[in-house]
Amino acid sequence: MKFVTVVGARPQFIKASILSNFFKDSGIVDEITIHTGQHYDDNMSSVFFETLNIPKPKYFLGISNMSHGQMTGQMLLEIEKILMFEKPSLIIVYGDTNSTLAGALAASKLGIKICHIEAGLRSFNNLMPEEINRKITDHLSDLLFSHYLGSVNNLKNEGITKNVFISGDIMKDACLHYAKDNINRSEILSKYKLEQNNYVICTIHRQENTDDLNTLKFLINNLNELSKEIKIVFPIHPRTKKIIRENNILLSSKIIEIDPIDYFDAMRLIKSSKIVLTDSGGLQKEAFYLGKQCITLRTETEWIELVEHGYNILFNRYSQISLLDLYRERCKLEVLDFDLYGDGNCGKMIFDNIIHFVQDEE
Ligand code: UD1
Repeated sequence: MKFVTVVGARPQFIKASILSNFFKDSGIVDEITIHTGQHYDDNMSSVFFETLNIPKPKYFLGISNMSHGQMTGQMLLEIEKILMFEKPSLIIVYGDTNSTLAGALAASKLGIKICHIEAGLRSFNNLMPEEINRKITDHLSDLLFSHYLGSVNNLKNEGITKNVFISGDIMKDACLHYAKDNINRSEILSKYKLEQNNYVICTIHRQENTDDLNTLKFLINNLNELSKEIKIVFPIHPRTKKIIRENNILLSSKIIEIDPIDYFDAMRLIKSSKIVLTDSGGLQKEAFYLGKQCITLRTETEWIELVEHGYNILFNRYSQISLLDLYRERCKLEVLDFDLYGDGNCGKMIFDNIIHFVQDEE
C-alpha cells in the first residue's frame, strides 16, 4: 500500500512521526512524505526530523513566506504533480495549516482518498485561517479521526458522519512515549539557569495575536508586568520576533527570549514550569499531559474540554483581570490526573483503521 503524508509545520512533524513508525514497522506500507516547506528554519523543521528520527521527506517543496492564498495555491500545484506521479491509495493530512488544506484539495481533485487526523476541531471563529483550513479539509475527507466526542458532534452538525472515529489525540502518544524516555536528556534548564517551578514558559504565534499590534502590545505589557513576579521563558516564533522588532515593542529584561526549541527541550520546559502561557493548540494539551495549568492567550480555544475541566483558562483583551492576577489564582490549582483525549495509544488505533479502510476500498 502506498500512502502520501503531507507535513509542513512544526506540530505536524511531531504528529506524523507516530504513524510513520507504525507504517515502517508494518512492512506493508510504503509511506511517501511531502514537506511543503511552510516551516523551514532548522530550529522549526530539521531539528524535529533529527530528534524524532523521522524518515527524510522524499519531496521538499520549499514553499513559505507568502500570503495564505499564494502559499496554498503553490502547494496545491506541486502536491498535485507528486500525487499524479506517485498514485497513492491514500493521503494523510494533519491539523489545520495551509499545508493540510493544500494536501486535501490536491487529493480531492484527483479522487484520492483523504485521511484527516485531528478532525472536527472548531474555534467558531472564521477570521482564523486555521478554522477555514480545518473546515474545508473535514468536508473533503473520507476518513476522519477526532480527539474527542465534542469534535465528532461538530462534524455531525455539519453533516459529516461517515468514517468518523474517536481516536484520542495523537500528540498525547508523542508526549507520553517520547517525553518519558528523552526528557531527562534535555539540558535546557541548566542552559538558562532555570529551576523546577521558578519560571513560566510562554509562546505566542497566532496571527490574531501577532498581526493586531494592539493585541500584541497588550499581551507583552501583561507579560512585562508578570515578569516582575516570576521569570518568563519565551521561545519566540519567527513571525512574532519579526513583528516585535519591527515595531520596537519592548520586552522586559526579565523575560528570557530564546530561539525556537526542539521537542524534548519544549517538553522539559513545560514539565518543570510553574504554569504554561500560550496561544498554541499543542502546548495547551502538552501542559495538561505533563500536569501543568495553562493560561491560553486567546479569545477562544478549540480544546474546550481542558477549560471545562478547569485545567485551562482564556486570557485576552476582554479579560476583567490582569495576567499577573490570573497567574496568582491559577498557580494555586492542581492538574489532577484526568483521562482526557485517549490513553496514549491513538497511533495504533488510527493505523489499524487506516489499513482496514484501504483494504476495504481496494
Ligand atoms: C502555522 C499554522 C498554524 C500552526 C502553526 C504551528 C497556518 C495558517 N498556520 O502558523 O495553524 O499552529 O503553523 O507552528 O498554516 N517563518 C520563519 N521560519 C520558519 C517558519 C516560519 O521565519 O521556520 C515565518 C514565515 O515566513 C512567516 C511566519 O514565520 O512569515 C509565520 O509562518 P506561517 O507558516 O505563516 O505560519 P505559523 O504562524 O507558523
